[in-house]
Amino acid sequence: MIYDSITGTIGKTPIVRIQRLAPKDVTMYVKCEFFNPLASVKDRLAIAIIEDAERRGTLKQGQTVVEATSGNTGIALAMVCAAKGYPFVAIMSDSFSVERRKIMRMMGAKVILTPAAERGSGMVKKAQELAKKHGWFLARQFENEANPAYHRNTTGPEILQDFAARRLDYFVTGWGTGGTLTGVGEMIRVARPDVQIVACEPAGASLLAGKPWAPHKIQGWTPDFVPEVLKRDVPHRLVSVTDTEAVESARALSRSEGIFCGISSGATFAAALKVATEAKQGAVILAMLPDTAERYLSTILFEGIAEGGDPEP
Ligand SMILES: Cc1ncc(COP(=O)(O)O)c(C=O)c1O
Repeated sequence: MIYDSITGTIGKTPIVRIQRLAPKDVTMYVKCEFFNPLASVKDRLAIAIIEDAERRGTLKQGQTVVEATSGNTGIALAMVCAAKGYPFVAIMSDSFSVERRKIMRMMGAKVILTPAAERGSGMVKKAQELAKKHGWFLARQFENEANPAYHRNTTGPEILQDFAARRLDYFVTGWGTGGTLTGVGEMIRVARPDVQIVACEPAGASLLAGKPWAPHKIQGWTPDFVPEVLKRDVPHRLVSVTDTEAVESARALSRSEGIFCGISSGATFAAALKVATEAKQGAVILAMLPDTAERYLSTILFEGIAEGGDPEP
C-alpha cells in the first residue's frame, strides 16, 4: 500500500478476537487503535480538527497550533502538524509520563508543563491564554465538534462494516474528550439499536455517574470536568474501574493475548469483562483499546518489571 502522506494511514484499525481471557460462552473483540501511525486513537482527532480548520479557513498556512493535552492528543497533533508544516505547542500537566513529552519534541513540538495540582482545567486555561496572546490556532479537543464528527464518519462506520451481518450486543469505551463515545455511540445507536453502549469511568472519578472527581492513574480517561462534546444520553450503561483493575487487565492482555496496550485499554477491557460476566450466553462484546503499552514505560503499568537480565535456567 502506498500513501501520499503519513496522515493517510490514520484509521481502519483492526478488530481482534480475544482467545483466552473471555469467559466461556461469551465472545469478546477489541478494536486496536494502537495500529494508528502514532499508536493511539487520538490520531483521528488530530487529523479531524486540523483538516476541518483548513476547510473552514480558521487555520492559516504556517500558523502555530496549540492544545492542552494529556499526551496522546499532543503526540497526534505533533505528527499531523509535522506532516503538514504547522508549528505545534503542547500544554501538558507535569503528572503525565516523560516519554510523551520526548515523543512530541522528537517531532518538532514545544512542550509547556503546568502543575499537576491545577488538573486538566489548568492546562486548558493556559492553552487559551497563549492562543489569545500569540494569535495561535487552539485545537479545543474538548469542545470541537470535528472530534465526534470524525468518529461518526470513520470509527463508527468501520465497526458497523466489520460487524455487518454479525452479532454484536455491547460496545464498551472509556471517555477522555467523549469524542469516541459520542461519535461511535451515536452511529451504533442509529444503525444497530439493539447494541448496548457502555461507558466506563475511573472508580474514583465517575463523573457521569454523578460522583466527585479525584486523581486517578488511567491516563487519557476522565478529566476533572465533563467535556462539551460528550453527549450524556449516548451510553445505556456506566461501569466503573479501579486503577488496579486497569493495570492488571492491561498486563493480562499483554501476557495472555499478546495484545500490547496501555492502561486505559486495560481499564476498558476490565469493564468489558464485568459486562461479560453478566451477559447472556452467546453474547458478543466489542471494547475499544485506545493506545499502546509503550507509552507507559515510566508508569505503574511497568512497575515491578525487571530491567536486568533473568538468570539462566
Ligand atoms: C489514552 C486514551 N486516549 C483516548 C481515549 C478516548 O478519548 P476520547 O474520549 O477523547 O475519544 C481514551 C479513552 O478511553 C484513552 O484512554
